[in-house]
Amino acid sequence: MSAQNIVTTLNERILTIRFNRPEKKNAITSAMYAQMADALLEAEASPEVRVVLFAGTADTFCSGNDMQDFLAASGSIHDAPVARFMRTLAVFTKPVVAAVNGPAVGIGTTLLLHCDLVYAGEGARLQLPFVSLGVCPEFCSSYLLPRIMGHVKAAELILLGEAIGAQKACELGLVNAVVPAAEVEALALQKAQRLAQQAPASLRVSKMLMKRFNDTALNASLTVELDYFGEMLRGPEIQEAVAAFMQKRKPDFSGFN
Ligand code: COA
Repeated sequence: MSAQNIVTTLNERILTIRFNRPEKKNAITSAMYAQMADALLEAEASPEVRVVLFAGTADTFCSGNDMQDFLAASGSIHDAPVARFMRTLAVFTKPVVAAVNGPAVGIGTTLLLHCDLVYAGEGARLQLPFVSLGVCPEFCSSYLLPRIMGHVKAAELILLGEAIGAQKACELGLVNAVVPAAEVEALALQKAQRLAQQAPASLRVSKMLMKRFNDTALNASLTVELDYFGEMLRGPEIQEAVAAFMQKRKPDFSGFN
């Protein structure tokens, strides 16, 4: 893995954070979370940055947490780079835009809940396979999804863990617009450019006003989800799920209680 698995570029006051590990479908390792958290902290402080844009590679947004990293993690998850990344993005004060093409799995989808504008290519597939992996929802998704779409639709995404297409994601309120895959990044960039021209303090105050009623609840859900997630990472169900993924077979949970 190289330092270039996350590529950041600053252009016209837009900081692009690009997942760039296509051989592993842009799965995120601890090192990549750390780089993204650092980039966000710098962006927060820098007057040169007015907007952040998340993007992936040609046919993949992000396949979520790296499976091997899942099990290799030691120490408290609350101190891990993934938690630092989540806490930084959840309270980021400047507008965040995402351009989603291909799979957006796990945190590849839950990070979108912390973006302000999300554009998807026609082939985008969003999926929250936490339960299928023997873990539980993270990054405030257990709190935000039922409020965005209602309990039964959120339960369908979280408990069944099946992928949904871009159009369904748009109908559910997770995505602003769906365009042909080849156009999604240009559209997201165009919206980011428009945001970068807006009055910056007004943008920050307006974003804060839209989110402030949820601040306490978001912080609480992020923490309690990580409590459970951290515990489940040491449990037997994820061992079976990751072994099954590596062996390219379906997990067998029939012997678990
Ligand atoms: N962690 C580690 N490696 C991953 C990965 C992940 N999250 N997602 C994909 N990869 C790897 C595969 O193991 C494979 O590696 P290999 O070529 O060494 O065998 C490579 O990326 C390509 O993946 P593959 O599954 O063959 O691509 P695909 O186009 O058929 O499917 C996905 C793409 C994203 C739908 C599929 O890889 C997937 O479901 N990944 C797991 C997603 C997941 O559960 N993430 C955790 C969420 S909490």
